[in-house]
Amino acid sequence: MASPTAEHSSETLPKGSSILAPIVLAGATGALGLLIAHHLRRRGVSVRALVRPESSHKAEAESLRKQGVEVVAVDYSSVADLTKACQGATCIISALSGLRDIIVDTQTRLLEAAVAAGVPRFIPSDFSADFTTLPEGSNRNFDLRREFQRRLDTAPIRATSILNGMFMDLLKGQAPLVQPGIGRIVYWGDADQPLDFTTMVDTADFTAAAALDDTTPRYLRVAGQVASIRGVQAAASQALGQPFKLLRVGSVGVLATMIKVTRTLMPAPNDVFPPWQGMQYMHNMLSGQAKLHPLDTARYPDIRYTQIRELLAEK
Ligand SMILES: NC(=O)c1ccc[n+]([C@@H]2O[C@H](COP(=O)([O-])OP(=O)(O)OC[C@H]3O[C@@H](n4cnc5c(N)ncnc54)[C@H](OP(=O)(O)O)[C@@H]3O)[C@@H](O)[C@H]2O)c1
Repeated sequence: MASPTAEHSSETLPKGSSILAPIVLAGATGALGLLIAHHLRRRGVSVRALVRPESSHKAEAESLRKQGVEVVAVDYSSVADLTKACQGATCIISALSGLRDIIVDTQTRLLEAAVAAGVPRFIPSDFSADFTTLPEGSNRNFDLRREFQRRLDTAPIRATSILNGMFMDLLKGQAPLVQPGIGRIVYWGDADQPLDFTTMVDTADFTAAAALDDTTPRYLRVAGQVASIRGVQAAASQALGQPFKLLRVGSVGVLATMIKVTRTLMPAPNDVFPPWQGMQYMHNMLSGQAKLHPLDTARYPDIRYTQIRELLAEK
């Protein structure tokens, strides 16, 4: 691994000091965007947050201003407007979330703006399991990321995608794996398949460090903890002080059938994360197809990663 340059050290700078050339952050009022902004500021970086006009008065935008972030309202449909907002930046980070209109179309305009403004680096809103080699159609949201990836890879800019597996935070509710009510870990396939988890906070911290690191490769793969279903079972039992048993619903083939049925009954085509897409994510991970390898988790030694046991023990 190449270490960050002295000028762009991932160490936290003394309070009050700032690296002057800004990092432009799109989607800064979102869940992950706010955390990335926080970690960039903690590292002493100037941050220019691009927000939609309707978001520029939200409490999240106000909290960004209080942290010393420059909040700029932009028209995402205008490459000229975006180009103006990207001037002088050292890196663009996109934490936008959405479907084709955002992941492909809006990010393409942001990319064109970055190139026009001469910004050297671009971090797209990938933040996921490894979608790069998955078969088309196995995950609707990942297909969109690969579609944008093809455009990004032909643009004259250095791109780095952050792949972090599943947000570990989802184990506290949204992902169906840990079921404290019935004392079960629900899963499909092989209980020994290694799975990648990183909290949203740790992903944001890693992204901030990567944005300051001029030597990043095309992909950085990070996992705060790699755990199998049996590992999740042990962590949940320890954290919650109750024994968890395993509940295997079926093979990953059974999960694939359940996805088809759920998608037919509840298509919700305009939802970013409908239940069937969450199930596609589980299928990608439990089948091992989206496993992160090799891992760059130790690239920034100042980051300490939250473990599943700690996360589940948090009230
Ligand atoms: N690995 C995982 O397990 C996992 C889980 C969840 C999410 N993610 C990924 O993490 C990334 C960030 O997700 P998030 O949950 O933080 O998203 P979020 O809270 O929904 O916020 C995303 C931002 O997208 C912007 N946005 C939404 N619609 C837009 C539009 N029409 N035009 C322009 N901007 C628009 C908004 O920006 P403003 O309002 O600021 O303008 C919003 O702040 C995404 O890539 C998402 O897929 C990964």
